[in-house]
Amino acid sequence: MADLSINLAGIRSPNPFWVASAPPANTAYQCHRAFEAGWGGLVWKTIGEPIVNVSSRYSSLDLNGQRMVGFNNIELISDRSPETNFREIAECKKRWPDRAVIASLMTDTRENWHEMMKRSLDSGADGVELNFGCPHGMCERGMGSAVGQNPDVIETIVGWVMEAAQIPVIVKLTPNVTDVTRSARAAKKAGAHAISLINTINSITQVNLDKMCPEPYVAGQSTHGGYCGPAVKPIALNMVQGCAADPLVQLPISGIGGISNWKDAAEFIALGSTGVQVCTAIMHYGFRIVEDMIDGLSDFLDSKKMKSVNDLRGKAVHTIGNWENLNLNYKRIASIDYDKCIGCNLCYIACEDGAHQAIALVSPNGHGLGPGRLPGKPVPQIKEVECVGCNLCSLVCPVDQCITMVDVSTGKKPMSWKEYQTRLAAREMKAIPAHA
Ligand SMILES: Cc1cc2nc3c(=O)[nH]c(=O)nc-3n(C[C@H](O)[C@H](O)[C@H](O)COP(=O)(O)O)c2cc1C
Ligand code: SF4
Ligand code: SF4
Repeated sequence: MADLSINLAGIRSPNPFWVASAPPANTAYQCHRAFEAGWGGLVWKTIGEPIVNVSSRYSSLDLNGQRMVGFNNIELISDRSPETNFREIAECKKRWPDRAVIASLMTDTRENWHEMMKRSLDSGADGVELNFGCPHGMCERGMGSAVGQNPDVIETIVGWVMEAAQIPVIVKLTPNVTDVTRSARAAKKAGAHAISLINTINSITQVNLDKMCPEPYVAGQSTHGGYCGPAVKPIALNMVQGCAADPLVQLPISGIGGISNWKDAAEFIALGSTGVQVCTAIMHYGFRIVEDMIDGLSDFLDSKKMKSVNDLRGKAVHTIGNWENLNLNYKRIASIDYDKCIGCNLCYIACEDGAHQAIALVSPNGHGLGPGRLPGKPVPQIKEVECVGCNLCSLVCPVDQCITMVDVSTGKKPMSWKEYQTRLAAREMKAIPAHA
């Protein structure tokens, strides 16, 4: 069985699954429940000057009956005192010495950062995470994303923290920037040991059209909240890969954003994360989801003959590059498995109206009859010459593996846009007479 343990900048945990700093990581009671379920680590709900929250505070994006595809909150950091939080961290660490307990911190002045670092060390926390990401409320007070959106301020504050740091420091980045690698580089320059990303994304998830006010509704008003959950995973993956590939960052990464199962976690690790953190999926389904995550990742690593999580880390990072380097002579086309086709014709409509008119509806003669398809009903047929391999039909088809994309030979050597431009320029040079 593969070794699931990780070591993130000196912080060890028996598996890569950590509870993210959020409501599930608010109290010692929850920390015990999380560790009993099997979580490898937990980042405490952000500790700072205790705040006052509003009611209500959450909202969501539901899609076609699936609840909380995206989740939005206008909650602030911990509403409990630092004394209580640090006392409970000490209690958890004592009871669970093999798990990672991280203190998430947010404060303002240099002296206060030094004080928070000392209290974190005294509590026995394995490390700290600096919350430079909260996109509502705290940023209006000059903290959270107000810090994370300015690389100079990140560098200054991480510098203050490092003056007092005796345990590993993780800088948690906000995605509410145009280029997250600039934030990551600032953290690295100031001496941070690791980064974590992403925190939540500025958002309005829905407008209550009866009240003419967005949710979450607070006495006739609302505010932009932080977006997370499955919908943000693609954005988070992109940012994690960007930081992992940047030669000026090169820091261990704790990946966060929309992780709900082992496969999501494996994707983050393949794109450069050492471990992952989870919030929304726990708020939706509870701590026990980690059981499937551990089993699933372990089976996957075994199936790929990987001996540890480390063997997976970063495996896909360098397959991502600039568009100009992609092979223009590679071609794939759609292929339909008629034994699976249910005859819904969604692929035909999508290609006809939204793509390249490369699917015909033809007589079913000679094709198999998939479940639910009516005898004699026309079937979709790929016009192979017209198909540009855009993937759209395979994405809209409701039946798993009914439309697959298959490689076809073009008989041409690989050539990128960059090479094409170089050849074009060389040909033009040749065409110019020597005396010109
Ligand atoms: C209700 C709520 C409260 C949160 N509070 C904090 C917090 O106190 N500190 C922090 O660093 N991140 C906080 N987050 C952000 C999460 O830690 C995490 O970065 C984000 O939710 C993305 O992960 P997910 O898609 O798994 O939810 C909060 C998120 C939610 C939903
Ligand atoms: S891959 Fe694109 S172009 Fe080809 S059949 Fe499907 S939708 Fe049409
Ligand atoms: S979308 Fe899939 S199931 Fe529906 S007709 Fe096309 S191939 Fe068949």
